[in-house]
Parts: sequence; C-alpha cells; structure tokens
Amino acid sequence: MHGNGRKKLEIYKMRKKILITGGAGFIGSHVVRLFVNKYPEYDIVNLDYLTYAGNLGNIKDVVEAPNYSFEKLDIADASAVNALFKEQHFDGIIHLAAESHVDRSIENPMSFVLTNVIGTVNLLNAAREQWKGKMDGKRFYHISTDEVYGSLGKEGFFLETTAYDPNSPYSASKASSDHFVRSYGETYDLPYVLTNCSNNYGPNQFPEKLIPLFINNIRNNKSLPVYGDGMYTRDWLYVLDHALAIDLVYHSGKNTETYNIGGFNEWTNIDLIRLLCGIMDKKLGRAEGTSVKLITYVKDRPGHDRRYAIDASKINEELGWKPTVTFQEGLAATVQWYLENEEWLNSVTSGDYQNYYSSMYSKRS
Ligand code: NAD
Ligand code: TYD
Repeated sequence: MHGNGRKKLEIYKMRKKILITGGAGFIGSHVVRLFVNKYPEYDIVNLDYLTYAGNLGNIKDVVEAPNYSFEKLDIADASAVNALFKEQHFDGIIHLAAESHVDRSIENPMSFVLTNVIGTVNLLNAAREQWKGKMDGKRFYHISTDEVYGSLGKEGFFLETTAYDPNSPYSASKASSDHFVRSYGETYDLPYVLTNCSNNYGPNQFPEKLIPLFINNIRNNKSLPVYGDGMYTRDWLYVLDHALAIDLVYHSGKNTETYNIGGFNEWTNIDLIRLLCGIMDKKLGRAEGTSVKLITYVKDRPGHDRRYAIDASKINEELGWKPTVTFQEGLAATVQWYLENEEWLNSVTSGDYQNYYSSMYSKRS
C-alpha cells in the first residue's frame, strides 16, 4: 500500500463513532457540543426523538460540523433501534435520552416506563448484539440521577453504595434502568459505566424545571409557585460541569463502576428563589425586592423528596473532577443566557407549554 493509503487507513482506524442519545435536550446538547468540538477525530451521532423537551435549536452551532450527524428515533421502538445498529457500528454509547420531569411522571408514569426503562433495555440489547465477541474498547455509559437514592434527612450524603429507594415514578424508572444496565454487565459482560448526578441548571433547560420556570415567570411578572413550605433541599450543579464530568468518566472511568456527581452546593428552594429574585431585579433594572413579591406558596408535590445531597469524593479522588463554576457565577450566567435568548424562551413556551402550565398549576392553587 502507498504511504498515503496507509495514512488514510490509520486515520480511519483512529476514528471512533459515538452514539449520544438525548442530544437535543438540556444536558445532552451540552455534551454533544463538547464532544463535537473537542474530538474532531470522533464521529458523533445524536439520536433524539425530539419530544417537547428536545430542540435542535439547542445545538444549532454544531449541526453543520463534519463529525456530527442526527437520527430522529424513538428509543422505545425496538425495531427502529435495531435498524440503526444494523446500519451503523458504534464504539461507545452515552445514553441521556429520557423523560426527565418528576411532575410529568406523576401525571403519566407510563411514558417514563416506555422511554426510561424499555428504551434503555432496547439500547442495551442492540449494543450487546453489536458488540458480541468484541467488547474490548467498547463502552455503554448510562447517565442517571441522584433521585434514585430517595430522600435524605437533615444529615448525611448519598454515596455510590447508598441503597436505591426511589419515591417518584421518574426516579423509579431511572432506578430500574440503572439496574438493567448493571445486570447486562454482570450477565453478558457488557462494558458499562454509570453516573448519578444532582440537579443541573444552566442554558437550554426546559422551563418546566424550577430555575428556568421561575426566570420565565419573573420576566413575565407571573407568580412563583413554591411547593409546600419551600424548605426542600437540592444540590445544584452547572450543566457545563456535568458535561465535563461526563467527558472524564467516558474516557477514564472504570468499567462497571458508578460515580456520583454533585455540586457541593445545597440550597433550600426558598433561599435559592430569593437569590434568583435578587439577581433578576438587578438584571431587569427593577427595584430591589420587586420579584420576591411574586412568591406564592402552593399545594405540595405528592411524594416530594425532602433533601438530596451528593458526596462526590469518589469522582474527585479517583478522576480529579470538581466543579469549576461557583453557584453565584453559574446562576448569573444562566439568567443572562435566558434574557439574551428570549426568542428561544418564547418559542418553547408557546403552544403546548401553555396547556401544560395551566393543567399542572391549576391543581396546585
Ligand atoms: P431533557 O428532558 O432536557 O432532555 C431529554 C431528551 O431526550 C430530549 O431531547 C428528548 O427529545 C429526548 N427523548 C425523550 N424521549 C425520547 C425517546 N423515547 N427517544 C429518543 N429521545 C427521547 O433531560 P435532561 O435534563 O437533559 O436530562 C438528560 C439525562 O440526564 C436524563 O437521563 C436525566 O435522567 C439525567 N439527569 C438529569 C438531571 C437534571 O437535573 N436535569 C440530573 C441528573 C441526571
Ligand atoms: P425540579 O426542578 O422539578 O427538580 P427535581 O424535582 O427533579 O429536584 O424541582 C426542584 C425543586 O423545586 C423541587 O423541590 C420541587 C420544587 N419546585 C417548586 O417549588 N415549584 C415548581 O414550580 C417546580 C417546578 C419545582
């Protein structure tokens, strides 16, 4: 073979094809952007069904990249998943596609079973079939949540060894998918790695979750529906720090290991909301104390977990990861992004969103 041909072959051998599922969603879009830009030698295939939460506008800056392609597909559809795996061979899978909102899971648990449980098992089956007899160098990376561990009291943290104790249909479906991933490792030697992360926030998060919903309501002078007594506690992590952790675990995590990812950043909802109101007043040029007046205590979420807090020492000590963005910086950047991207916010809050909002929140008054 001529020198040039050999070189081409070597480059071909070096190329890796990675399937990222849910890459049009909130966290997935940041992971796709990071991988497409950082690894031009990888082919990144973004699989997403573009549900209400998926939006190709989230990754409009990378869709023209030569190492990026898109597949619109429902992971709950086994034959569609199998057909994709017949057509394309993947070296790795980073699985983020999911139904992700607790309140929606209370209204419609079955869609969570279909996507989160059956969808994950469909991907596991397809990966197992494709990698049969050649598992070396392959990796199935399942992205999960700290909510599988249930609720903490005032003290303590979730460790990787904490027993699963999910309380919502969302966390039950994620717990189930985590168990399936582990079982495929034990039973079929599927090379997997799993992470459980705390609450994310940042640009491109759909305004059904606390922070973007409240940013949108403040900007529109709408009431801020605080569930129960507002003393529920979450551990918040900036989405780019989660994407960096995913990059690290994908490349350096050990097979069959679980890593907890968290922000070392606990806030009660009411303190966080007051902080957000202050930032918004400044950015919108409103008098101090204007937005807190929008706070309205409403009927609680059923099965509401009191406190989540992650002990992220394992990923810190073994892989050297820690958050790079403080909460004050991350929250200010997030507010700035939503105010600068009104078109995005207006487009995702038109149509169906209005029906969602009135049906979800009319029950709470
Ligand atoms: P998201 O709801 O913003 O995005 C989910 C994406 O999955 C969307 O693009 C949607 O179109 C796609 N999708 C949904 N059903 C699908 C189906 N049947 N087939 C193919 N695609 C489908 O979610 P997110 O907040 O970005 O969360 C991503 C992952 O991270 C989820 O697995 C979630 O459980 C996990 N996670 C989220 C958080 C958080 O705070 N948001 C924290 C820890 C873990
Ligand atoms: P959310 O963003 O839905 O994330 P999760 O339930 O997965 O942690 O909610 C974060 C916290 O904010 C949770 O304790 C519920 C509370 N919350 C409200 O008080 N009002 C709201 O309108 C929403 C969406 C959430």
